[in-house]
Amino acid sequence: MSSATNNSPRADFIVVANRLPVDLEEAEDGTQRWRHSPGGLVSALEPFLRARRGAWVGWPGVADADVEPFEDGDMYLHPVRLNSDEFRDYYEGFSNGTLWPLYHDVVAPPVFERTWWESYVRVNKRFAEACAEVSAAGATVWIQDYQLQLVPAMLRELRPDLRIGFFLHIPFPPVELFMQLPWRTEIVRGLLGADLVGFHRPGGAQNFLWLARRLAGFEPSRGSVGVRNRPGVVQVGDRPVRVGAFPISIDATGFDSLARAKETQARAKQIRAELGNPRRIMLGVDRLDYTKGIDVRLHAFGELLKEGRLDAEDTVMIQLATPSRERVEHYKKMREEIEREVGRINGQFSRVGRPAVHYLHSSVQRTELAAFYCAADVMVVTPVRDGMNLVCKEYAACRHDLGGALVLSEFAGAAAELTSAFLVNPHDLDGVKNSLVAALNVDPTEGRRRMRALRRQVLTHDVDRWARSFLEALGTNLTS
Ligand code: ADP
Ligand code: F6P
Repeated sequence: MSSATNNSPRADFIVVANRLPVDLEEAEDGTQRWRHSPGGLVSALEPFLRARRGAWVGWPGVADADVEPFEDGDMYLHPVRLNSDEFRDYYEGFSNGTLWPLYHDVVAPPVFERTWWESYVRVNKRFAEACAEVSAAGATVWIQDYQLQLVPAMLRELRPDLRIGFFLHIPFPPVELFMQLPWRTEIVRGLLGADLVGFHRPGGAQNFLWLARRLAGFEPSRGSVGVRNRPGVVQVGDRPVRVGAFPISIDATGFDSLARAKETQARAKQIRAELGNPRRIMLGVDRLDYTKGIDVRLHAFGELLKEGRLDAEDTVMIQLATPSRERVEHYKKMREEIEREVGRINGQFSRVGRPAVHYLHSSVQRTELAAFYCAADVMVVTPVRDGMNLVCKEYAACRHDLGGALVLSEFAGAAAELTSAFLVNPHDLDGVKNSLVAALNVDPTEGRRRMRALRRQVLTHDVDRWARSFLEALGTNLTS
């Protein structure tokens, strides 16, 4: 970190994301405290940025909050203010009512609303200005995710000296779906302001290359894009924009050591005991989002109990669900449906002191989460669409004992890497049920073989490798 003439620190490496890694929480009595922000983006990037003493530009998580820039351990945090109209129109509206469902295969209908778009443009401009302010000459700025797709071009306009990368943490949709967006050309042009545009999977990169020609009229390269290699190129005037695939991952050794700690193992035993030492535990861990397929696993579990293929006396399900986007209509509806389904299953199959489904509408600490992973016999990850999904990787990283089994949707980006999981099509309920039963009854030797392969993949492809491969492709010199 260097100091600019006006005394505000200027950084050589800046991450910009919709959220800061910490959220400001306001209690009813008016007291405030910071807590860890939800979601995979923060889980992945925070350890990497701390190690590099960089700056993070983002929103502090509540509307109308005036927060001065501050240092948090090894990071410099630069808050961007959103007022309550912008929270409604830019965040809940365009980001999560238009782009989120559109990019997730329209599993819910996206809403196209002009005032939301106008707010998105205004807020993206503010983020670009904040980045321009904190960036030292020639700095690298790494822009994150669908909320900020206009920032690359806006920032280039303000600061042509910067090296600009963009990474999309959610799926990039098939071109027929993207073409529905009234502001499709503006988004493509916004992204083309970067020097490198990254996606989780080659398919997303390939879709974007096609759109760069169709909507912006630039000639893209023709070869197929590889994973972490062979990026495509779009020539924008005299500036090449590279377009590549970089599957994100987790702090795998961090989770591995956490799981090996005596306290975690003791807590895992205690969790089992608190549940009445059932023979088998199934676990789901998600943000409460309609793309995650929480309803799919509940329906599958309910039917298996009803058919007598599982017995609630010896098999329980735990669902940890982090509250998310609670005022957005689709989320309200989904929460009601899930809670009704949990009630229905428990009403039918539980007895006093022995619920079939344990549902927690809350977030837990990382150490507690690791203990849940260690306690679970089967981890159930059934999104109908997910850019990557980090939960399944965290589970594998925690199973140094080679115990446990992973049931994973084919529609999560992670399925391309975690091929030794029990892969399922979440739209095929019978298939999901059969895979749950197979995973619960897997032969121990076969189970260990599968878990060893999952762990090999996760431990050799961690978040550090993801970030390094992206930043090397961007041409950034990494000193640590
Ligand atoms: P997304 O980014 O869509 O939320 P990911 O699976 O990629 O989905 O990342 C979710 C992250 O949030 C993971 O790091 C996971 O550990 C964390 N997480 C999800 N649910 C909970 C919960 N109930 N308590 C604590 N952490 C959670
Ligand atoms: O990965 C998708 C994502 O939207 C991230 O941008 C974010 O970290 C996470 O989900 C949580 O979403 P939100 O910031 O809307 O709570």
